[in-house]
Amino acid sequence: MKKTIAVLQGDGVGKEVTKSAVKVLESIGKRFDHSFRIQSALIGGEAIDQTGEPLPKETLAVCEKSDAILLGAVGGPKWDHNPSALRPEKGLLAIRKHFGLFANLRPVKAVPEMMDASPLKEHLVKEVDMMIVRELTGGLYFGEPKRKTANGAVDTLTYSRKEIERIVEKAFELARLRKGKVTSVDKANVLESSKLWREVVEEKKSYYPDIEVEHILVDAAAMKLITQPSSFDVIVTENLFGDILSDEASVITGSLGMLPSSSIREDGFGLYEPVHGSAPDIAGLNIANPSAAILSAAMMLKYSFGLEKEAAAVEEAVYSVYKDGYCTTDIQKTGHRVLSTTAFTDKVIEELEREFVSD
Ligand code: NAD
Ligand code: IPM
Ligand code: MN
Repeated sequence: MKKTIAVLQGDGVGKEVTKSAVKVLESIGKRFDHSFRIQSALIGGEAIDQTGEPLPKETLAVCEKSDAILLGAVGGPKWDHNPSALRPEKGLLAIRKHFGLFANLRPVKAVPEMMDASPLKEHLVKEVDMMIVRELTGGLYFGEPKRKTANGAVDTLTYSRKEIERIVEKAFELARLRKGKVTSVDKANVLESSKLWREVVEEKKSYYPDIEVEHILVDAAAMKLITQPSSFDVIVTENLFGDILSDEASVITGSLGMLPSSSIREDGFGLYEPVHGSAPDIAGLNIANPSAAILSAAMMLKYSFGLEKEAAAVEEAVYSVYKDGYCTTDIQKTGHRVLSTTAFTDKVIEELEREFVSD
C-alpha cells in the first residue's frame, strides 16, 4: 500500500514524540511492505514564528494532498500572551474545522503491566477499556458570538441537530463493535444544548436496540470516571466536556503520555495526535513518553488505512516494552527501568523487528 502522511510536529514535546511515531511507521512500512511518504509542514507556535500564522496555507495544501495527518502538539509559554488569532492552539482548532473532523476518538485502556502506576487502586482500573467519543468541531470552541472586551466576555455554546446526530451515530456504531454500551454525558438539567443532545440520543436509541444506553450529567460522570471507571464502554459527549473528561481519564492509565486519539470524518480521512499537549515543563529533555504518539499512529493505520494487522502489531510492540520492564519517567513503576524518549522508541522498534523475525 502507498500512502502519503502529512506530519505536523508542532511545538515542545510534539516534536520529540512525533519523531518516535514516524520511526515506528517506517518500521511498519518495512515489515509489511508499505510505502509511507512523509510530508512535513508547520503548525502552531513554530508556524507563527516562521510565517506569521498558526496554520499556514502551505500546511493546508500539504494536508490536502495527503491520505492522513499525524500531529504532535501545539502551544507554549512563548505564545501564551498572543492575541487569540495568533495563538498556536488556533492552528489546531482551524485544521480540525477545515477538514470537518467532527469525531474525536480517545481510547482509554489500562495496560496490565502498568496498573500500579495509576494513582487509583488496581482493582478499580484493571478492567478499564473505554472509548471517549468527543464532538470536535462544535460547541463552545466555535460558537458565535465569541469576544472579549475589558468589561465583559462571551463564548457561545451552540449545536445543530445534525451535528449532534452524526456524533451520536458514530458512538452507537463504535459501541456495536465493542461492549455494546453508550454513556451520553451532558448537563441537561441546565443547558438547552444538552436537552437537545439528550433528545437526539433517545431518538437514535431506537435504531440500535442492541445497545444499552445511559445518560449521566457531566459532574456525576467526572466522579464516576474515578469511582467506577470500568463501568464505561463508549462515552459520547460535547466538545468541552470531552476535552476535560479525557485528561481526567488519562489518570486511569497512569499518565497523559499514554493516551492516543484520532479525529475523523465520515469518509475515514483523519488527523491523529496524542491527547496531551506540548508539555513545556519537560520539552527538549528527551524524557516525554512517546506511547501516545506511537499509538496514535497505530490508530491511523487502523482507521484511515484499514491496516488492522499492522495497527495491532504496533500496539503489541508498545505493550511488550512495558511488559519487558521498561517505562518513561511519567509512568514509573518499581522494578521498571526508566528510558528516555528515544531509547523507549528504539525498544518499540526492536519489538516490532523481533515480532517480524518470529512471524
Ligand atoms: P500538557 O498536556 O502539555 O501537560 C500536562 C502535564 O502532563 C505536564 O506535567 C506534562 O509534563 C505532562 N505530559 C504531557 N505529555 C506528556 C508526555 N508525552 N510524557 C510525559 N509527560 C507528559 O498540558 P498543559 O501543560 O496544560 O499545556 C501546555 C501547552 O500545550 C499549552 O499551550 C496548551 O494549550 C497546549 N496543548 C496542546 C494540545 C494539543 O496540541 N493537542 C493539547 C493540550 C494542550
Ligand atoms: C486537546 C487540547 C486542545 C483542545 C487545545 C490545545 C485547543 O486541549 O486536543 O485536548 O482543547 O481541544
Ligand atoms: Mn485537551
